[in-house]
Amino acid sequence: MKILLKSGKIIDPESKKSRIADVLIESGKIKKISGRINTKARVIDAAGMIVSPGFIDLHTHLREPGNESKETITSGTLAAARGGYTTVCAMPNTDPPIDTASGVKYILTTCAQEGNIRVLSIGAITKERKGSELTEIGKMTKAGIVGISDDGTSVMNSLVMRRAMEYSKMFGLIIISHCEDLELSKNGMMNEGKISTIMGLRGIPTQAEEIMVARDISLAELTGCHLHLAHITTRRSIALIKEAKKRKINVTAEVTPHHLVLTEEDVIDYNTNCKVNPPLRTRGDRAALISALRSGIIDCIATDHAPHLDQEKNQEFDLAPFGINGLETAFPALFTNLVDRKQLTLAELIEKLTIRPANILKRSDIGRIREGANADITVIDLNKKIDVGDDFFLSRSKNSPFIGKTLKGFPVLTIYNGRIAWHDKEYIK
Ligand code: DOR
Repeated sequence: MKILLKSGKIIDPESKKSRIADVLIESGKIKKISGRINTKARVIDAAGMIVSPGFIDLHTHLREPGNESKETITSGTLAAARGGYTTVCAMPNTDPPIDTASGVKYILTTCAQEGNIRVLSIGAITKERKGSELTEIGKMTKAGIVGISDDGTSVMNSLVMRRAMEYSKMFGLIIISHCEDLELSKNGMMNEGKISTIMGLRGIPTQAEEIMVARDISLAELTGCHLHLAHITTRRSIALIKEAKKRKINVTAEVTPHHLVLTEEDVIDYNTNCKVNPPLRTRGDRAALISALRSGIIDCIATDHAPHLDQEKNQEFDLAPFGINGLETAFPALFTNLVDRKQLTLAELIEKLTIRPANILKRSDIGRIREGANADITVIDLNKKIDVGDDFFLSRSKNSPFIGKTLKGFPVLTIYNGRIAWHDKEYIK
């Protein structure tokens, strides 16, 4: 099937240029980009719209196997497509966790059969994510993982982490670290500070993250692995990453949309949809995260999409699980709060959602919009506004702090591998 996207404004994060042009898609590839293309194809009018490479999320919790009431591979990848994503990395903290080659095969075959977009698999670092015994990283690599992580928890034992880094280097994997000193964060609910004291909630100090960022950078220097730091939230973490990059240590980092947009002040009314780990931090941290993203100290944006059920979130703050549902609100929340308020440009935002994560994955066939690349394309209407309500989500869960807010700038069409993965019915019938 041929698709001809007509007259959209193409934002190309590779050449850092934008222009209005037609895009011809054929056999899963971008066949031609040119001022005007006339050929027999399914024509889609993209005039007035932004045409971007499909977004890539390095950090998605799809919940299958084991928690299909929260999300499935089908619902999670549909929510991703609706959010403009054409590639997501599935985190292994499922039930059972993905800590064997057969688990990886299960994820990849189910995603190929039932997924709406590309899913890459992350394997656990330790068996059952318990932090003590390494998984069979070589066998999981053969089965197709792109990285390893015990995300959701930290590998507290430094020797285990060192060995995992050595294996990740040997197999050419990224090691994604959830940086949290579990003793320092124990029983914590939100950022530690004046607000947590006033609210009577136990705090999580920034040091719980920073100590592990420092440790893992140090171990990355020792082992020469590619260390990717998940969901960075504090000023001191940024300073550590900056210094590590200056010293040419192979480290990359991500920040989530919620840490870029919200702060600990959003927790004040005990909204459990703002309960997330690592916690929302201060205004100063948020400002530092935005500037670190702009300057490249933080490489990319990743959602940490973490679906949870209403009945779990509708509890006292200390009983509710940590996590924010993020795939469908990532772009509009960032566009509304950062781009529209001139804190980030649209080109920068697209770069951090596309080519930057592609480079971390060392993939030159995705996250780009050029002839010959995979036809993974997101068409965005920057003027579309939605009052986000309970009924907004295609995800099986709706634990979002953006419920009740009006967001602007929504993907309206997502093409994955040359086919329409999701479209807004108001936009094309
Ligand atoms: O808030 C979080 N939720 N942080 C994590 O690290 C894990 C995630 C989850 O899986 O629910």
